[in-house]
Amino acid sequence: MATIARSLKEEQKSGNTWDVERIRADFPVLHQTVNGKPLVYLDNGASSQVPQIVIDRGSAYLEQEHSNIHRGVHYLSQRATTAYEGAREKVKRFINARDVKECIFVRGATEGINLVMHGYGRKFIGAGDEIVISAMEHHANIVPWQMLCEEKGARLRVIPMNDAGELLLDDYDALLNERTKFVAVTHVSNALGTINPIKEITERAHKYGVPVLIDGAQSAPHMPIDVQDLDCDFFTFSGHKLYAPTGSGIVYGKAELLDRMNPFQGGGDMIKSVTFEKTTYADLPNKFEAGTPAIASQIGLGASIDYLDSIGREEAAAHEHELLRYATEKITAIEGVRIIGTAREKASVLSFVIDEIHPHDIGTILDQEGIAVRAGHHCAQPVMQRFNIPATARASFAFYNTKEEVDVLAHTIEKVIEIFS
Ligand code: ALA
Repeated sequence: MATIARSLKEEQKSGNTWDVERIRADFPVLHQTVNGKPLVYLDNGASSQVPQIVIDRGSAYLEQEHSNIHRGVHYLSQRATTAYEGAREKVKRFINARDVKECIFVRGATEGINLVMHGYGRKFIGAGDEIVISAMEHHANIVPWQMLCEEKGARLRVIPMNDAGELLLDDYDALLNERTKFVAVTHVSNALGTINPIKEITERAHKYGVPVLIDGAQSAPHMPIDVQDLDCDFFTFSGHKLYAPTGSGIVYGKAELLDRMNPFQGGGDMIKSVTFEKTTYADLPNKFEAGTPAIASQIGLGASIDYLDSIGREEAAAHEHELLRYATEKITAIEGVRIIGTAREKASVLSFVIDEIHPHDIGTILDQEGIAVRAGHHCAQPVMQRFNIPATARASFAFYNTKEEVDVLAHTIEKVIEIFS
């Protein structure tokens, strides 16, 4: 598989187009029927699928290396440790961190944000301080900050957005002041697909000396990430949206901040020494990794990064961009369908509503035709409130999706409208 993918990259470099069928061959789950129809998997924003090479890496770990890390002098433990720390190296390269110690393994972006809230927020944010988030955050980037505000007497401020689903940067400027102590913004909206100008958002916060966390759950799978270029202070993403198993993910933090933060959880592996009187903490990154981690899943994340490198991240992003353009054109043309989220800069997400038909009904009928989309509020209830709708149906694309699948989606949406008319 890896050889096929590598030669594919060479071909693409030589100017040939994306060979989506060859890419699809790497993903066993895609080759099945659902309700008697070929599966059309368009729920990549929730969980993307896992290529065979990543499955094989996880199996190889379980078959030949399974053991606990950092703890054993024995052969298997050392192999597991090497593989786990090797995955961290791959993550470092993937996001262009300065140092592996800045890459903390977490269960996913939700845990990454909670780690920063507990480690940084609870230590450095107090009564009267302000935390700025945006109107298009996932609950994972709202609720932890609300909890912190309640605990500390701090205040949550929200950058509004326009009807297209674009953040209003002048309003953001107006929110920043000497009370602002933290900014937490999503890179790509999971409900709208908007790509936010996070470099600019970060620059503006830094003028006030305010650290910035970027929720990269929906961006890392779809575009190259360079945390040094972005200059963000924290960046987090989930492995299960990045073609890796659930339970994997990363929170990146600048070392000087991570060093000053409190640990997130206490337990084994995050200590230097323990007595009943006092514990001293381990150096980065272990200080933030208490207990036995999801070793197989994080090794899988490393393998998925290798896979993405081998097929070409920019080429994959270009294919997804073209799919989104094509799908937007097709779906917009259907009478009665309204796209929610029409920002100029969008990635991989197409949310829509149909007059008089509840998104859950849309999702159920699409499923009967083998099409997997997400229907609901997408863990972004304030986004639904902003657009005055209860929910949307959401198709979210990956580089293994095809224009033919978009055609099937569009055709089936027309059938849904017919059924309800
Ligand atoms: N946050 C994931 C989504 O947007 C689950 O579907």
